[in-house]
Amino acid sequence: MVKIIYVEPDGTERAVDVEEGHSVMEGAVSNGIRGIVAECGGACSCATCHAYVGDSWLDVIGAAEGDEADMLEFAHEPQANSRLTCQIEVTEALEGLRVLIPDEQA
Ligand code: FES
Repeated sequence: MVKIIYVEPDGTERAVDVEEGHSVMEGAVSNGIRGIVAECGGACSCATCHAYVGDSWLDVIGAAEGDEADMLEFAHEPQANSRLTCQIEVTEALEGLRVLIPDEQA
């Protein structure tokens, strides 16, 4: 299990353990994290699992590319540190990852 810290839209921080191999989106949905909608179930086709990656973590997980970057154009207020959480696979290297969930989803 890998500890992921989700910051919900109202600023509430929730640290939860997510199984390796699952996505950051799945970790949010299965733990009742508020603000991650994930309408398409992880198919990279809805942009409602958008979150901002916490400082310094973008170097570890990398920026969005390809289909994910295209889909992020439909996300609410995308920034340089925006990612679709269904496209981030949880690995040991992400222990302590912090993601900030926006006020609105697409
Ligand atoms: Fe739809 Fe991530 S769950 S793009």
